[in-house]
Amino acid sequence: MAAIDTAVATIHLLFAGLWAGSVVFVALAVLPTATAGELNVDPLRTMASWLRTVSRASSLVLFLTGGHLAGAQYTVESLVGTTYGNLVIGMVALWLLLTGLVEAGTGRLLSGLDERKVRSPARSALPFFRAAALVACSLLVVGGIIV
Ligand code: HEM
Repeated sequence: MAAIDTAVATIHLLFAGLWAGSVVFVALAVLPTATAGELNVDPLRTMASWLRTVSRASSLVLFLTGGHLAGAQYTVESLVGTTYGNLVIGMVALWLLLTGLVEAGTGRLLSGLDERKVRSPARSALPFFRAAALVACSLLVVGGIIV
């Protein structure tokens, strides 16, 4: 593997861990605390907008670095015709799903927080984040299998 590909794979892995870890933390710790009414509007808004920024940046970085790795290591034939290639295509589908779920979840949360509500937006965002946490963990499993 060329040095540039090693650097790109390391950045890919860093952002994968950052994104997945943040989503799981929000699903398992932040939103359950908010649905119990134990978080105020302002700190929750800070956390939600931090997550949205991290998620958008990670989504872009993973798309670009993943595209580079796929271009460097695969051909169209090997993407379509081998198990590892199929797993890379699966990674792209899960990436799209994860991006959409986090966007929908943070969108719901932030618009409820704008009305100074906490519990109901946290409750409506929770299923999106639970699904996103599952998808994020599946992506790490797929990455582990590919490597
Ligand atoms: C459009 C989006 C993506 C593309 C095109 C993509 C593509 C790839 C490719 C080509 C590899 C290397 C495969 C190999 O070595 O044979 C890889 C590895 C990996 N991907 Fe992705 N990926 C994407 C998104 C993601 C996301 C969203 C995550 C997790 C949140 C993720 C996690 C990983 C991990 C953990 C590895 C193994 C470690 C590494 O090589 O960095 N990927 N990906």
